[in-house]
Amino acid sequence: MNVGLLGCGNIGGYIAEAINKKMIDCRLVSVFDNNIWNSKFISSKFKQPVKIARNIDELVAGVDIVVEAASQDAVRKYAVGILKRGRNLMIMSVGVFYDDVLFYKMRDIAKRKGVKIYIPSGAIVGIDGVKSANMGKLRSVTLMTRKNPDALDIKTKRVRVVYNGSARVGVKKFPKNINVAATLSLAGVGFDKTKLKIIADPKIKRNRHEIDVVGDFGAFKTIANNIPSPDNPKTSYLAALSAIATLKKIVDPVQIGT
Ligand SMILES: NC(=O)c1ccc[n+]([C@@H]2O[C@H](COP(=O)([O-])OP(=O)(O)OC[C@H]3O[C@@H](n4cnc5c(N)ncnc54)[C@H](O)[C@@H]3O)[C@@H](O)[C@H]2O)c1
Repeated sequence: MNVGLLGCGNIGGYIAEAINKKMIDCRLVSVFDNNIWNSKFISSKFKQPVKIARNIDELVAGVDIVVEAASQDAVRKYAVGILKRGRNLMIMSVGVFYDDVLFYKMRDIAKRKGVKIYIPSGAIVGIDGVKSANMGKLRSVTLMTRKNPDALDIKTKRVRVVYNGSARVGVKKFPKNINVAATLSLAGVGFDKTKLKIIADPKIKRNRHEIDVVGDFGAFKTIANNIPSPDNPKTSYLAALSAIATLKKIVDPVQIGT
């Protein structure tokens, strides 16, 4: 599978490294980033040439899938164009989908073009269970996220609830920090019914996500205590690994998990 990488920062770097180490049966064909130095850095790590694209046409040429690991802005600017050019697309900046209009527009184009939009589980665990439970009746889905204030771009010396409400409003308020609430919403009861609480806790070093799900199946709770990426404390290392695992799932003949 030929891959084009949109966003050559922290997550993009891990994905490129996994491809370079042949952890996945993929070839990195092209990279695109606002910051050309980030593109050049990733491209320089490969023995075979990796094209430094200057626009979306150059990024998609010869690729089967574009992996977005850039920003919500990048999704708004390029995602529709990538799908219209008949390329599969993986989205990491999934928080952008609080905008239903964009989500359904992209879904319709993907359907028409016969391509897929992949949304990895990201920094949370339990998306498989939520998807299964959603085939019956789901009663409630709640996410409680606890992060160091630095990871939330806020200043506080004490434990503080910085948000308590629907995932839709929370995702909009914290566009760089709570993508997981968007993924959970899409997998389960939607952005308005998914409950979200965000706590800033100066004492913790890890990003903690607790999910409580209740439905006809019974109930489950998952807890992830994630190590933040050294280069970007907002991003958990598990999120980068989930992108790599999703690429692996796409190319593997055996599919494990819901
Ligand atoms: N789904 C999840 O669970 C999850 C978890 C963590 C992060 N994320 C999201 O994934 C994305 C990448 O995270 P990261 O830690 O790698 O960020 P990062 O800041 O380390 O890297 C982002 C890169 O994308 C580039 N970029 C940003 N906007 C761009 C644009 N419009 N056009 C071209 N290039 C652009 C930047 O120059 C940078 O090199 C972010 O949006 C982040 O919020 C998702």
